[in-house]
Amino acid sequence: MKTYTISGASGTSTILVGEQLRNLAAHLPAAKLVIITDRNVERYYADRFPQAAVISLAPGEASKSLATVEMIYGRLLELETDRTSFIVGIGGGVVCDIAGFAAATFMRGLRCAYVATSLLAQVDASVGGKNGVNLGGYKNLVGTFSQPQFVICDPLLLKTLPEKEILCGLAEVVKHALIRDAELFGYLEKNDSQIQKLEAAAVERMVSDSVAIKSAIVNQDEKEGGLRRLLNFGHTFGHAVEHLNRISHGEAVSIGMMIAVDISVSKGLLSISDADRIKQLLRRLNLPVRCGIDPARMIDAIRKDKKRESDAVHFILLRGIGEAVVQDIPLAEFQDFFTSKQNS
Ligand SMILES: NC(=O)c1ccc[n+]([C@@H]2O[C@H](COP(=O)([O-])OP(=O)(O)OC[C@H]3O[C@@H](n4cnc5c(N)ncnc54)[C@H](O)[C@@H]3O)[C@@H](O)[C@H]2O)c1
Ligand SMILES: [Zn+2]
Repeated sequence: MKTYTISGASGTSTILVGEQLRNLAAHLPAAKLVIITDRNVERYYADRFPQAAVISLAPGEASKSLATVEMIYGRLLELETDRTSFIVGIGGGVVCDIAGFAAATFMRGLRCAYVATSLLAQVDASVGGKNGVNLGGYKNLVGTFSQPQFVICDPLLLKTLPEKEILCGLAEVVKHALIRDAELFGYLEKNDSQIQKLEAAAVERMVSDSVAIKSAIVNQDEKEGGLRRLLNFGHTFGHAVEHLNRISHGEAVSIGMMIAVDISVSKGLLSISDADRIKQLLRRLNLPVRCGIDPARMIDAIRKDKKRESDAVHFILLRGIGEAVVQDIPLAEFQDFFTSKQNS
């Protein structure tokens, strides 16, 4: 087992990579416990849950709403939950985000923890202290920063995860390697088949290194003033593609990363041979590297993004594999990039 710590204004979180769900009880305080999960995770793993009241949600992104949170508040009232109670979210990123938000807001904040059950939750969503729900078609518009007391990343749980969900997590692992860790990138290149088969050693390495990278970044910049922006690599165009194409987040991020890679090459920051290595790795992991969307529509989607502060975007580029930089890029420059690409 490997342990990582995140300490920030919103609390301290210990992330236990390699710990198992069946040992959850050993980490819990003596307090009334409420588990929030979804019906898929409950179906597979309820027999490993400690004794507790269970609130089980419908699986999927549609549950990430204020209506679900209100339902949870109602159940917490019925269960006579009080300020001393403890909430555990056991599930993928959707469950962690909802459980974290409900815990952070009910009675102005209850203690909570997560057991991350999807690869995406283990390498990304459960780490960093952001939680929230969607509102009015915008993702994660309502939420808080608050660290769960601990997070368990149990590799055994990934065995039942559908393949398309594994791809979602893999895209974020590649992202972490690209922005911060050339060695991890080399490992992914050499072990792509072990990774796809989710062999234990490969899972351990991907999850540990990803948690190490994300927690180091969050420890330096909890609230996304600067460094944390690097974690958005591939996500500017990724979100636009996800929205327009209705493909999974991981596939969209893979395409978004390749667009950012190509822009990095066009700016003379990244070599063509590194760009080729990145494209090959994504392909070997079964992640897409291009989409047929009209660039003008993508730029329009970025223009409408709620987080845009001006006509420029804080865009993450690569200076090499494992080295990301932030640059403010005006939207017009993206247009020029796509036009020159079409003409080349
Ligand atoms: N808070 C953050 O910093 C952060 C970061 C990244 C993503 N997110 C959020 O995470 C969410 C996506 O997370 P996700 O991809 O885990 O989605 P998810 O929670 O919907 O899980 C994906 C699917 O896998 C199922 N599942 C989960 N674990 C399983 C297991 N062990 N075996 C079988 N099935 C299992 C779920 O029931 C669901 O159907 C998004 O809402 C996103 O906004 C949050
Ligand atoms: Zn992402």
